[in-house]
Amino acid sequence: MLDINFEPFTEITTARLLLRKFSLADVPAMFALRSNTQVLEFLGREPLKNLDEATALVTTILKNLEDNNGIMWGICLQENKIQLIGSIGFWQIEKENYRAEIGYMLHPQYWNKGFMQEAIKAVVAFGFTQMKLNSVKASINPRNAASAALLEKTGFIREAYFKEDYYFRGEFFDSAVYGILNNQH
Ligand SMILES: CC(C)(COP(=O)(O)OP(=O)(O)OC[C@H]1O[C@@H](n2cnc3c(N)ncnc32)[C@H](O)[C@@H]1OP(=O)(O)O)[C@@H](O)C(=O)NCCC(=O)NCCS
Repeated sequence: MLDINFEPFTEITTARLLLRKFSLADVPAMFALRSNTQVLEFLGREPLKNLDEATALVTTILKNLEDNNGIMWGICLQENKIQLIGSIGFWQIEKENYRAEIGYMLHPQYWNKGFMQEAIKAVVAFGFTQMKLNSVKASINPRNAASAALLEKTGFIREAYFKEDYYFRGEFFDSAVYGILNNQH
């Protein structure tokens, strides 16, 4: 069984990014991200309605971290470590299977600059070396071409396809499930 302890929090630096801990100061930026229709297009989640909902979300992220049930980093540019431009992290950690699901999103202003490739590579490396995961899963709406391209570029392989397994706003959606294995044992 995997033994997870996210304390002390590990900040991650990549060539251009800082991945850091969330705080309540991120609430307005989190609201901007999670109420943006472009960001939400393929996520099957309702937009946040107000700052109170964003506060609840950031509070849940911090609680999950404290309970070692998930870890989410706030993505910033190195030249501005305050302004949150996205998020990335592991959730649905299956300790008994040494497996976790990765999730990520970036504000559209920063898309197509290779930022998320940078972030995914660093976070997956953290998952394998620090968390000792054996596999990482990503589940996407197959129509999310940017996310599919991103996963393939970072070494994930499409392992499964589920038809109409996700229900949102009166419609059923397919899911494509990607995986990457830790080959460093
Ligand atoms: C998916 C997402 C994280 C990509 O972030 P990003 O920083 O723009 O990604 P990158 O620039 O690192 O790489 C994306 C790659 O996909 C390609 N791409 C982008 N849009 C594409 C499209 N519509 N069709 C095919 N490929 C596409 C890019 O060209 C790039 O490849 P390249 O390096 O060869 O040019 C971002 O679009 C996003 O936040 N989307 C909304 C939230 C979301 O869908 N999250 C994933 C949920 S599973």
